[in-house]
Amino acid sequence: MRTPIIAGNWKMNKTPAEAVAFANEIKDALNAIEGIDIAFCPPAITIPAVAEAVKGTKIGIGAQNMYHAEKGAYTGEIAPNMLTPFCQYVILGHSERRAYFGETDEGVNKKIKAALAHGLTPIVCVGESLEQNEAGETHDFVSGQVRAAFAGLTADQAVRCIIAYEPIWAIGTGKTATTEQAGGIIGQTVRATIAELFGTEAAQTIRIQYGGSVTPENAAELMAHPDIDGALVGGASLKPSFVDLVRNAARQRQGESERAEIKLA
Ligand code: 13P
Repeated sequence: MRTPIIAGNWKMNKTPAEAVAFANEIKDALNAIEGIDIAFCPPAITIPAVAEAVKGTKIGIGAQNMYHAEKGAYTGEIAPNMLTPFCQYVILGHSERRAYFGETDEGVNKKIKAALAHGLTPIVCVGESLEQNEAGETHDFVSGQVRAAFAGLTADQAVRCIIAYEPIWAIGTGKTATTEQAGGIIGQTVRATIAELFGTEAAQTIRIQYGGSVTPENAAELMAHPDIDGALVGGASLKPSFVDLVRNAARQRQGESERAEIKLA
């Protein structure tokens, strides 16, 4: 059984003081939720302080981006070993970075390799635009993004990554993909592509999240799909009700494993 993971992508929200206050406000309630991994991905400048605030809890820390090089003349960039004292995860290839900051498939591939080399778990984002979705191009496009991101990796390296399927049309729009839509692409496109590249065992091992307008209200329903291993949450991760979102998701999974045990008995 894959342990689900919910990560809050705070994007460009909260000052260092606000970030620490918010982490302190919700950390104990989150820490009490079992059966699910949890991470905060706060703005880079707030990472050391938020990491300190959640010390001793189950909450992990992720960066929202990273550069692949070790060090050097790359003004404004952050190197992997600058993150490792504070972070376990790093979001790579988010659609906002692809759209606004020139992130390419090739760049994402380099960053994944660098993150893995430093022991960070990449959360690799893929997802199609509304136009591509309406033109019926979702499968080919998303599969292509996965192939490009994972090019040159071994199966062992691949399963150390997390993939987040985030359809661009669902991000920040309140237009959540249905459980069937999200689970269908995650199973038949993302997981199937990993199976083609690295084999069935790798495909069954790798965790794949859904992202795009996930809320406390729809989290459990999305988690009901066996291929959806958690969520990458934007707007709803900025509010105290993020605790309800994580709790609802965890309860759904817990209920499922209890039902499976009853069936086996
Ligand atoms: P929203 O949850 O605000 O739609 O954002 C999703 C996202 O982009 C997470 O990375």
